[in-house]
Amino acid sequence: MTISSANFETQSAEELIQWTMDQYGLNAGLACSFGMEDMILIDIISKLKSPITIFTLDTGRLHEETYEIMERVRAHYGLEIKTYFPNHEQVEKLVREKGFFSFKESIENRKECCAIRKIEPLNRALSELEAWVTGLRRDQAVTRTETAKVSEDMDHPPLVKINPLADWTQEQVENYIEANKVPINALHKKNYPSIGCAPCTRPVEPGEDIRAGRWWWENPEHKECGLHRPS
Ligand code: ADX
Ligand code: SF4
Repeated sequence: MTISSANFETQSAEELIQWTMDQYGLNAGLACSFGMEDMILIDIISKLKSPITIFTLDTGRLHEETYEIMERVRAHYGLEIKTYFPNHEQVEKLVREKGFFSFKESIENRKECCAIRKIEPLNRALSELEAWVTGLRRDQAVTRTETAKVSEDMDHPPLVKINPLADWTQEQVENYIEANKVPINALHKKNYPSIGCAPCTRPVEPGEDIRAGRWWWENPEHKECGLHRPS
């Protein structure tokens, strides 16, 4: 199918999830990190009774609070979550050769860890799908301002990538969560607006950028792990 991104720009998040469900059903997968955006997408998917696959990448370095919200999602929404783990031989080799905190030593080492713990499992998850849905938003980062709502994913051909919240603001996200009583990761109340792996995420100070706590020792232009653009 040829995708014209402009045709989707005025569609709401609900309309985009409905379209995804009609086009792809279980061959579409929500990539879920259990951040606020993904919790909204789960809420919409559940309300529309969409048979969309939900998957998460468990890097092995997540916060305890993230596992707790995963369990709450199972209980609250009764949804099945497919979990992909890193290849154990690659992780064992990395830790044997470079230790448990190699990602702090250089950008190359950080990208190597993300490649092993996130990208390889992501590629395995995507190999089973025709389309994937993410919680990316344009105002999250300088690297995300061009995010389309629907596009052919040039980084993962021939998949189609759907970002139903691309034009949402942080305020809209928080309003939806409150109005719909969506359960959220307990870390958000401890000043973590963006949540990734535990050793690579810290709380933000008042007035700081929402992704300031991710890989805080790196420049904003580098702060992508490769899930959403090649590193
Ligand atoms: S990241 O690339 O910096 O980690 P971010 O945390 O902003 O990404 O999340 C953006 C989107 O990427 C999420 O809404 C989700 O769709 C996807 N994503 C991020 N981390 C994961 C994960 N561990 N498992 C599945 N999807 C993820
Ligand atoms: Fe490794 Fe940190 Fe990337 Fe997680 S975010 S995969 S711990 S470098």
